Order: sequence, then C-alpha cells, then structure tokens
Amino acid sequence: MAAPNPLFKDIAEPVAKLCAVWARSRNRVIGRDGDLPWRLSSDLKHFKRLTSGKPCLMGRKTWESLPGVLPGRPHLVLTRDAGYAAEGADIFTDLHAMVARGFELAGERGVDEVMVIGGAQIYKALLPHTDIIFETVVDTEVDGDARLPELQMDDWAVTNEKHHKAGPRDDFPFTTRSLMRLKA
Ligand SMILES: NC(=O)c1ccc[n+]([C@@H]2O[C@H](COP(=O)([O-])OP(=O)(O)OC[C@H]3O[C@@H](n4cnc5c(N)ncnc54)[C@H](OP(=O)(O)O)[C@@H]3O)[C@@H](O)[C@H]2O)c1
Repeated sequence: MAAPNPLFKDIAEPVAKLCAVWARSRNRVIGRDGDLPWRLSSDLKHFKRLTSGKPCLMGRKTWESLPGVLPGRPHLVLTRDAGYAAEGADIFTDLHAMVARGFELAGERGVDEVMVIGGAQIYKALLPHTDIIFETVVDTEVDGDARLPELQMDDWAVTNEKHHKAGPRDDFPFTTRSLMRLKA
C-alpha cells in the first residue's frame, strides 16, 4: 500500500491492492468525446482478463461510455449527483466511500485487487493511493480531451513488458506492462 494513506484511514489493513488499468497513447491521451480514441479489440480482451471478478471503480462519464454492464464485475460509480440512477451499478458521491466499498467487496469475493478503470478524473484522484498500474501504451499520438498526468517514474518499477503487433481488429500495435509502486 502506498503509505501514508489518509484515504484508507478507517479501512483496517486492506488485504487487496488498489490497481489502475488504462490504455494511453504515447502522448498520454485516454479519451476523446466520451469514448476511446481507438479500436483495440486485443486490449479489450486484456482488460477483461485483468478485471474479471474484481470490483471496478469508475467516474460517471466512464460509466456512461460503457456499452453496458461488464459481466461478472461489481461496478462502483462516482458522481456529485446524489439522484443519479445507473442500473447495475452502485452509486457513490464520496470518493472515500467508493474505495472503502471496493475493498469490502474484494474481501467478500476473495479477490486481491480493486480495479480503478477510469476515467482521467478518477485515475488522477486515486493515483497517490494506487499500488499497481496495468498500462497499455498504444503506439500512436492522438488528440483527445481526457489525458493522464505524467508519472514520476522513480516511484515505479516496470515489469511484464510485452509488445503486441496489431491484430485484425486493432488500429495500432501496443505494449502492455505493469508498474509496481516502489516502497518509500
Ligand atoms: N483509455 C482508457 O483506458 C480509458 C479508461 C476509462 C475511460 N476512458 C475515457 O476517459 C473519458 C472519461 O474520463 P473523464 O475524466 O472525462 O471522466 P470520468 O473520470 O470517467 O468521470 C468524471 C465524473 O466523475 C464524477 N466525479 C469526479 N470526481 C468526483 C468527486 N471527487 N466526487 C464526486 N464525483 C466525482 C463527476 O461526475 P458528475 O459529473 O456526474 O458529478 C465527474 O464528471 C472518456 O473519453 C472515456 O472513454 C479511457
């Protein structure tokens, strides 16, 4: 756990890791007009493998960008609109409450990862508390309106780096890798 971690102050000894999973262009764009800026079928399969069975935390705009509820994963959605209704998702107006419930669900399901699945606002808010990043670097530079902050790479160890050629339903080649937070 990335300590000290006031966000988790009343979560006793979280057993799960907080993990972000994202796909970004070389220039750190993740979204455009409420959608992904590319079609990468192979990376969607990778995303499914990483997130299946695990609680998925997301912002309201990312929720609205999904084609529907992703099967087999609890959806936890953050919005400032207390009246927001989203069938198949649990709604939170407080970031801390969403994270706490994510850890609780991980415990109930016996999984060791809580997944932060976007978008830019939620990645940014939870980055200081994120233990592992599962990153896809899409081999292109694109325009977009949702973008990741620069990472301080001294804080991260890069593992599991793998290059992928573009498959028949991929717009670009891409690289998958894991970034593990180095302990202070
Ligand atoms: N490439 C990738 O890996 C990836 C992954 C996910 C998403 N995306 C893309 O990213 C874009 C969406 O990202 P985004 O940054 O625009 O939106 P977002 O992070 O998905 O959602 C933002 C919304 O979350 C709510 N929110 C944020 N902070 C909050 C807080 N502290 N308390 C309560 N609610 C809060 C607000 O909802 P309300 O406005 O309802 O109050 C806010 O408008 C889309 O283009 C999507 O396709 C890309």
